[in-house]
Amino acid sequence: MRILVIGNSGQVARSLREAAALREDIVLDSSSQPEVDVLEPSSIEARLARFRPDVVINPAAYTAVDRAETEPGKAFAINRDGARSVAAAAANLGLPIIHLSTDYVFDGTKETPYAEGDAVNPQSVYGRSKLEGERAVMQVNPRHIVLRTSWVYAPFGSNFVRTMLRLAGERSRLSVVDDQFGCPTYAPDIADAILAIAVKVAGGQTAYAGVTHLAGPDALTWCGFARSIFQGVAERGGRSIAVDPITTADYPTLAVRPANSRLSTDRLASLFGVTLPAMKNSLAKCLDRLMLAGEE
Ligand SMILES: NC(=O)c1ccc[n+]([C@@H]2O[C@H](COP(=O)([O-])OP(=O)(O)OC[C@H]3O[C@@H](n4cnc5c(N)ncnc54)[C@H](OP(=O)(O)O)[C@@H]3O)[C@@H](O)[C@H]2O)c1
Repeated sequence: MRILVIGNSGQVARSLREAAALREDIVLDSSSQPEVDVLEPSSIEARLARFRPDVVINPAAYTAVDRAETEPGKAFAINRDGARSVAAAAANLGLPIIHLSTDYVFDGTKETPYAEGDAVNPQSVYGRSKLEGERAVMQVNPRHIVLRTSWVYAPFGSNFVRTMLRLAGERSRLSVVDDQFGCPTYAPDIADAILAIAVKVAGGQTAYAGVTHLAGPDALTWCGFARSIFQGVAERGGRSIAVDPITTADYPTLAVRPANSRLSTDRLASLFGVTLPAMKNSLAKCLDRLMLAGEE
């Protein structure tokens, strides 16, 4: 199976490259800008014509959640218009598109995990731009699989785990928000799940179309996640620091984040037969790579 990934260095794009490298049945091509730029539809079409994939995966996005509040034009150009261009280019060749979206399409007022059919109500520019991206993808390509994920971390890229490790080297204690609940999701687990889904949808069936939540099985707050990280750091002989719980009101940010963005993954299991590993196992793998293998 031949897979084209839009983007190259992002957490999910790089994880897809690593996962595909271990599979003899998958040939994966990924591309960085400016060679393939979602803002330039002709660059997408040219790559598709040259590589001739069976499936297109689009994890490319404008992901700077706070900066998006002051750069809405850029966020919508990449997350809505760029997403539409990728999905349309795939549709022109009859190819399925696997598109990544976010838990931030919800407002966070629900008490229990969000299912795919729950009402959306994004509270930020980023969330709105991603929601409009979902809708554009679904509109232009009938063979769409929209995967909403959350709280992504990896041994590389910009993420909460790496931020905690950096801050542990600079501070003696940390204050972390303890009233936002979500599901940390390890990018290599996302990649494995996407490859399993890609195998199923490569034939171009529309039976799998729609939105599916793809997130880790454990829900906790940022503070709880930080404490899990530092416990793992201490177990590996690293410097662990105290974490004090604070509220969202104590830590104002430009973009409003949902208080609850836990995602129910029942559809992922029933439709695709995919479940993600427990956080403790995935976090251990991430910390092993960061602390024992010394990855940057
Ligand atoms: N990070 C999270 O916590 C989180 C949470 C929920 C959902 N998501 C969603 O999950 C997906 C993957 O996120 P991630 O964490 O892997 O993102 P990331 O690490 O921030 O990487 C962003 C990727 O987007 C690519 N990109 C940005 N602008 C582009 C453009 N104009 N043309 C082509 N590619 C462009 C980058 O390309 P280069 O490789 O060329 O730099 C990079 O590969 C995104 O759809 C994001 O919205 C992320």
